[in-house]
Amino acid sequence: MRGRFVTFEGIDGAGKSTHLDWFVGTLRRRGLDVVQTREPGGSPLAESLRELLLHREMPIDTELLLMFAARRDHLDRLIRPTLADGRWVVCDRFTDSTYAYQGAGRGASSERIEWLEAWIHGDLQPDRTYLFDLDPALAARRRSSARAPDRFEAEELAFFERVRAGYRLRAQADPERFVVLDGERPIPEIRVILEQDIATIWNT
Ligand SMILES: Nc1ncnc2c1ncn2[C@@H]1O[C@H](COP(=O)(O)OP(=O)(O)O)[C@@H](O)[C@H]1O
Ligand SMILES: [Mg+2]
Repeated sequence: MRGRFVTFEGIDGAGKSTHLDWFVGTLRRRGLDVVQTREPGGSPLAESLRELLLHREMPIDTELLLMFAARRDHLDRLIRPTLADGRWVVCDRFTDSTYAYQGAGRGASSERIEWLEAWIHGDLQPDRTYLFDLDPALAARRRSSARAPDRFEAEELAFFERVRAGYRLRAQADPERFVVLDGERPIPEIRVILEQDIATIWNT
């Protein structure tokens, strides 16, 4: 069977990491060979770029280009070979994050992002994307008790309002690929929805 490409998206603190290990474990218990990875990062070079992206101030165009430079390496070294082997890839963030953060959040034009996307992975899109949708104020409260903020997490609420809106537009534009999850629901409820949806991805 062909490998599937699954991505988790949502603003910082929306619940991606909370469900990622569990989701991958659930797939593995069903006998699937799954690689869990993240963006920016996922390959040695892309992880080095991640350090710059999360901690160094830079102009938006530089940020956008570094995101796609990291993605190019991650795709070539990990995502494409894994899928070609018939294995699954589950990735914490992918190009929808670029539309939401660099685009809606920081104002990079969507035409530019579309152009870079077409260049770097015009032939490949996730088979399924789970969008964790959550009020930014609640997400900020959840984050503050959990960890020290990076350069993105330190942004103001208005930034995350724009990012959230950007994500919702992405989901509306591609309802076949996206499943929008209400991040306010209790963790076990979200897991039930994820578990039920696995069968759908399987059969597509
Ligand atoms: N559905 C939920 N209900 C209550 N708290 C949650 C829920 N999902 C996640 N959390 C908590 O919110 C915090 C941020 O979640 P996390 O998964 O790290 O977010 P993300 O990876 O999307 O940035 C964690 O402390 C986590 O335990
Ligand atoms: Mg996380």
